[in-house]
Amino acid sequence: MGDSFVHESSIIDENVKIGTGTKIWCFCHVQSGAEIGNGCSLGQNVNIANNVKIGNGVKIQNNVSVYEGVEVEDHAFLGPSVVFTNDLTPRAEYPKGHDNYLKTMIKKGATIGANATIVCGNTIGEYAMVGAGAVVTKDVKPFTLVVGNPAYEYAKVDEKGNIIKKF
Ligand SMILES: CC(C)(COP(=O)(O)OP(=O)(O)OC[C@H]1O[C@@H](n2cnc3c(N)ncnc32)[C@H](O)[C@@H]1OP(=O)(O)O)[C@@H](O)C(=O)NCCC(=O)NCCS
Repeated sequence: MGDSFVHESSIIDENVKIGTGTKIWCFCHVQSGAEIGNGCSLGQNVNIANNVKIGNGVKIQNNVSVYEGVEVEDHAFLGPSVVFTNDLTPRAEYPKGHDNYLKTMIKKGATIGANATIVCGNTIGEYAMVGAGAVVTKDVKPFTLVVGNPAYEYAKVDEKGNIIKKF
């Protein structure tokens, strides 16, 4: 597991990779097959599901479940209580199984604001930004800020997160 920190209240399953300098705080669960890169931070009550890949330098705030089918690239920021999905039309009686989950990609440097929901099958582009509480139903272009439900393009943002041009 390298030189990482895992709080004693967290559960790390077998067959998990956790990179150097990564910190996993209270009440987290990292499931089998997950890979977390170097220098990441997982806040309280974070779940990383089976086989999920998290890049380097990723910050995940409290109460986020990163479900199977979601991939998070380097330096992405997932705000508190961000919600992911992996089945567009779930039925308790007719589970589709993990081979049929729709993939969601969070590209390098992207930010997802607090309590936003990312409907599965979409890609959040490099250094894109999702406003707090947005519901993302389509791909988000790189360096683009979206807000609202359904999320719409609001502005262009730069790599540091400054709003540089409103639409
Ligand atoms: C979307 C966001 C980046 C906009 O930044 P901002 O500096 O507030 O932008 P503005 O002040 O120019 O706001 C512009 C307009 O968008 C609205 N707006 C701001 N945030 C919004 C949001 N999340 N959803 C919908 N509308 C929003 C404002 O009310 C304002 O509307 P108005 O022009 O009718 O008055 C920011 O509000 C946000 O949601 N950031 C995420 C914060 C977060 O979740 N952090 C997590 C870690 S703590």
